[in-house]
Amino acid sequence: MVGVYFSGSGNTKHCVEFFVNLLDESVKTFPIESEFSVSEIIKNDVIVFGYPIHYSNAPKYVRDFILSNKSIFTNKKIFIIATMGLFSGDGAGCGARLFEKCGAEILGGLHLKMPDSIGDVKALKKSPEENKRIIADADLKMMNTAAKIKNGEYPTDGLSKACRLAGLFGQRLWFYGKTLNYTDKLKIGDECVGCGKCERICPMNNIEVKNGKAAAFNKCTMCYKCVNNCPKKAITLIGKNVLVQYKFEDYISGVKD
Ligand SMILES: Cc1cc2nc3c(=O)[nH]c(=O)nc-3n(C[C@H](O)[C@H](O)[C@H](O)COP(=O)(O)O)c2cc1C
Repeated sequence: MVGVYFSGSGNTKHCVEFFVNLLDESVKTFPIESEFSVSEIIKNDVIVFGYPIHYSNAPKYVRDFILSNKSIFTNKKIFIIATMGLFSGDGAGCGARLFEKCGAEILGGLHLKMPDSIGDVKALKKSPEENKRIIADADLKMMNTAAKIKNGEYPTDGLSKACRLAGLFGQRLWFYGKTLNYTDKLKIGDECVGCGKCERICPMNNIEVKNGKAAAFNKCTMCYKCVNNCPKKAITLIGKNVLVQYKFEDYISGVKD
């Protein structure tokens, strides 16, 4: 077994790491952008694959990763973890349908509500205490799920036809254009001091510092890593101002205590 994930603010990274550790402490995890992800998927029969929900869909980069590596998923058994701020309908189903096209078998799906990661939009914002409760609830759900899986019982969150209709009519139909392509809408303001942090952490290599200032290309997959980590709060995507820089690691390192 191996854990593979895509994660912007760290929620999905935490969930995949926590979950596979409950199933088997020896299992390793890798971000999909790592140089090892493809070879680790090839080596293992069971894959725990996690991603965040963007507009009730899997992020464009995740969909492209699956489809551009189709053959490595053939005959694999895949368990999908989808993290979300509130609702996705068929979040796990979006990945499941792609994996099935690659000839994989879907073992199950798990939806986990986690703190919202959109640092420049007011909706869904919670206090640090509420976020801690949300994370604790997700951890509890993972513990219960892992116990059931050890008895051969897999959850099927987001995999039914009813979930697909909920995802489609609840959000995807109205917001489909948002995740259809990568975006060129990342904005880097005058506050930028060219420190290069965004360039180093962007999983898409979509940012470059030139002449002392960061500049974005047109291949942003909207993970919000740069928005949430910029020391000058200079980067925005959907909104106009950075309101809260959410990072999962702040909740384990004690910054939010
Ligand atoms: C661009 C964008 C779109 C999002 N759309 C949804 C959504 O449709 N439904 C939802 O419940 N959460 C949505 N979220 C919240 C994330 O899915 C959630 O915070 C997730 O746990 C982030 O995981 P990560 O830290 O691994 O990136 C969205 C977040 C982003 C950045």
